[in-house]
Amino acid sequence: MCGIVGYIGTKQAAPIILDGLSRLEYRGYDSAGMAIYDGEKINITKSVGRLKILENLTHGGETMAGICGIGHTRWATHGVPSNVNAHPHFNADGTITVVHNGIIENYIQLRRMLTDKGYQFLSETDTEVLAHLLDYYYKGNPMETVTKVLHRVEGSYALGILFADCPDQIFAARKDSPLVVGQNQDGCFIASDVPAILKYTRKIYYVDNQEIVRLRADHMHFYTVDEEEIQKESVTIDWDANAAEKAGYEHFMLKEMYEQPKTVTDTLLPRIKDNDIVIEELNMTDDELRGIRKIHIVACGSAYHAGMTGKYVIEGLARIPVEVDLASEFRYRNPILEEGAMVVVISQSGETADTLAALREAKARGFQVLGIVNVVGSSIAREADNVMYTWAGPEIAVATTKAYSAQLVALYLLAMKLGRVRGQIKNKEFVAMLGDLRCLPDQIELLLNNKFKIQKFSNRYIGAKDVFFIGRGIDYAISLEGSLKLKEISYIHSEAYAAGELKHGTISLIEEGTLVAAVSTQPDLYAKTISNMVEVKARGAFVLAVTCEENKEIEKAADYVIYIPETNPFFANSLAIIPLQLFGYYVAVGKGCDVDKPRNLAKSVTVE
Ligand code: G6P
Repeated sequence: MCGIVGYIGTKQAAPIILDGLSRLEYRGYDSAGMAIYDGEKINITKSVGRLKILENLTHGGETMAGICGIGHTRWATHGVPSNVNAHPHFNADGTITVVHNGIIENYIQLRRMLTDKGYQFLSETDTEVLAHLLDYYYKGNPMETVTKVLHRVEGSYALGILFADCPDQIFAARKDSPLVVGQNQDGCFIASDVPAILKYTRKIYYVDNQEIVRLRADHMHFYTVDEEEIQKESVTIDWDANAAEKAGYEHFMLKEMYEQPKTVTDTLLPRIKDNDIVIEELNMTDDELRGIRKIHIVACGSAYHAGMTGKYVIEGLARIPVEVDLASEFRYRNPILEEGAMVVVISQSGETADTLAALREAKARGFQVLGIVNVVGSSIAREADNVMYTWAGPEIAVATTKAYSAQLVALYLLAMKLGRVRGQIKNKEFVAMLGDLRCLPDQIELLLNNKFKIQKFSNRYIGAKDVFFIGRGIDYAISLEGSLKLKEISYIHSEAYAAGELKHGTISLIEEGTLVAAVSTQPDLYAKTISNMVEVKARGAFVLAVTCEENKEIEKAADYVIYIPETNPFFANSLAIIPLQLFGYYVAVGKGCDVDKPRNLAKSVTVE
């Protein structure tokens, strides 16, 4: 979310601050600003919108001369994104400025107290109370002032503070919001995260809760909130390959979510030729494809959820009955595989023990197995009779995103191919569907770029106990995956239900404020899902809806709506899952979870 960068040294501060802020962009923000001391006074430039605007306003920092400054990217909490609400905030005569990440919980009382004393507030933010409170306590000793303020405020903060009276110093402090400081031969830095200053220094100090740092150009000192000096050890950050691969993203999961447009393109496009679908890897003639009587899809985890969607799409488009099994069940349930059955196993890693065992079981019974696999040369890829690769590239985060998206489109291609050769899809319809497939990457990108809406919403549910996902048909399959994304990385209990099943038990779990995410992308089922939303709402649920742009009717039943662009309903999963992935991700980030490596989970489950 918000980002802080500060610098004091011998170089120009503004370009360093802009550069650092750009490396924190992944955190999400809606405005940016800088305060630079020019030798006489503190100058402030801030603007709503992207960092680029601040860069342009200051000509890359050139118009803000000075060797000491603080900068900030704000992600609005108290007060809308606007120039005036953007940080830095300052006291009446602009001699004290502050940037802040976190939330000052007692800001209303403080604001009242300061207003009574004649202070005037310009913004709606909680942060502005800090600027005036610093002014209120300032009697010429900045250190003493900072400690007094910290004793008065409740909540969370990472702070950067500049006093015009002491332009050779920056003060920083933290409680429950990340903050690091660093040093090189040219100066000292503060930042909310290491990547912001890694280009300048690898000598980093992690500021702990309720510590204050006084930074000068050539040294820094650490204090408790009672002004007792403390000694801290620096950490040398080795440029690790992982960080490099993250390409500036905070987590692999976020990076991989952002790779989905490419993944979908890479899996789709090589198989769309001259308005036809060519899946050479199937190694089956059209006659053989026409002879398929039943399909068994077998997989684990998210691959199983992709398979669930595959069932609806294949049955809908090709009219072939599909059974979907969890691999761990399939292998021991003595499944009935009859002549004409096709077995499809889906696996990102190609190493999942149960899926591999299911593949072997099917082969042992004399059935050909098609593997939809991501990792080239993996066990499943090697043992399957035919392999349709999902070209998602390496996926590092334990919670799959891009491989899942690639599995979905591989299944769409398979369904369309089967539907086409079996005469179930008319030419015009087929061409229109190809057009819709081609649009998916851009539409996914659009949803990713609109992440702020869901990011903001996610923030409210960091403390949630239970979350329910509901949907019908394909929307039920989407709900299963949305629910898994949330629970596996945020550790919040979450379940997905077929919306029609609610009344058979689940609805008794709904309490005042329980979040219910309703997925509604299938026009034939809009009205049915709305009825279920109304039922949970009547029992106190807060309803988040993910639906198509045309379904404005849903606003009557939902408290918060995320719209997805128009596509063929069979492909809606590829779009609806994006906000749900983002929701799980931002809740987990907000909770401080280890997003890429959730507890107890492994990327590749090679034991049963
Ligand atoms: C693990 C992963 C999931 C994955 C599942 C199946 O549980 O955390 O993300 O969906 O295994 O893995 P596979 O590699 O077979 O797709």
